[in-house]
Amino acid sequence: MKPKIYVTRKLEACVKEKLEMYCEVSMWGREDLPVPKEVLMKEVSQVEGLYCLLTETIDKEIISLAPNLKVISNMAVGYNNIDLEEAKKHSIIVTNTPDILTETTADLTFALLMATARRIVEAVDYIKTNQWLTWSPMQLTGRDIYGATLGIIGMGRIGSALARRAKGFKMNVVYHNRNRRPRHEKELGVHYLEWEELLKTSDYICVLVPYSEETKNLIAEKEFSLMKDTCILINTSRGGIVKEDALYHALTNQQIWAAGLDVFEQEPIDSTNRFVSLPNVVTLPHIGSASVETRLKMEEVAAKNLLRVLQDKPPLYRVV
Ligand code: GLV
Ligand code: GLV
Repeated sequence: MKPKIYVTRKLEACVKEKLEMYCEVSMWGREDLPVPKEVLMKEVSQVEGLYCLLTETIDKEIISLAPNLKVISNMAVGYNNIDLEEAKKHSIIVTNTPDILTETTADLTFALLMATARRIVEAVDYIKTNQWLTWSPMQLTGRDIYGATLGIIGMGRIGSALARRAKGFKMNVVYHNRNRRPRHEKELGVHYLEWEELLKTSDYICVLVPYSEETKNLIAEKEFSLMKDTCILINTSRGGIVKEDALYHALTNQQIWAAGLDVFEQEPIDSTNRFVSLPNVVTLPHIGSASVETRLKMEEVAAKNLLRVLQDKPPLYRVV
C-alpha cells in the first residue's frame, strides 16, 4: 500500500505526478490561499508525510494530531514555521531546500539593494503620476553603490553569493557572522568586523541570518542608533530579525536613509502597512527565491526529500 501524504498547496502537475507514483496524495487545491488550519488539522491525522510551505505553522498542536507522521518536508530554506523540538520528540524528520535557491535569492537581494539605493520604484511612479516636468540636478537622486561599504550580516550561502555580486560592483564588503569565515575572507576578499563596527561603518546592511530565538530583534533601537544616517538596510531573510517598530522610527526620524524589505513580522501585508506609504522604503511580497527555475527546483527537491524519507533513505537536506 502506498503511504498517504498531504501537500498544503497546489503544486506543478509534474511534481504532483512524481509524488503520486509512490504515494497516495491529498493536496490543498488552491494556489492563492493557504490551507485553513481546520483542514490541515484533519488532514495530518491521516498521513505519514507532510509537504508544506513557510505559510503553514507546524506547531505542537498540529504535530500532536499526526501519530503516523514520519517527515515534514518544507519547501523553503527557512524552517522557523516548524517546531523542531516537537518534531524531534516524535522522531519526525524535518527537511528543507537550501543551495538551489542561493543564487536566485542573492540576485533579488542585490536587485532590492539597487532599487532602494537608486529609488527605482519612486522614479517609476514619478512618471506614472505626471511629475516629470523637467530634468534637474538633484531630482530623484539616490546613493552610490560603486565604492560603498556593504555590511553583510550572516556570511552563509546567500551571504557569500551576495558578496560575489557586490565585489563585481566594486563595493567594499565587510561581514559579521557567529563564526569567522577565513576561507570566505581569502576567496571573496571580504573583511570581518565586530558587530558594532559593522553597524557604524556600513553604507548598506543586508540581513541574511536565519530567524531563531537568538536572531529575533537582532536589529533594534540600539543598532539603528549606531548606523550612519545615510545607511540603507535590506532584509530578505525573515521579518522579526529586524524589529519593525524600531525600523519605522529609524526611517521616519532620519536615523537611516532607506530600507528594502522582502519580509515582514506578519505576512502577508497590504497597502495599509505603515512601510508601504514611506517614500524611502521598497516593499516586496517575499519573492527572494521567486524565479520559475528555482521555484520549480524547490518543489522538486521538497518532493525528493519527502519521498526519500518514506523510502527509508536519507533525505537530500535534513534539518532534524
Ligand atoms: C523563503 O523564504 C525560504 O525560506 O525558502
Ligand atoms: C541560507 O541558505 C544561507 O546559508 O545563507
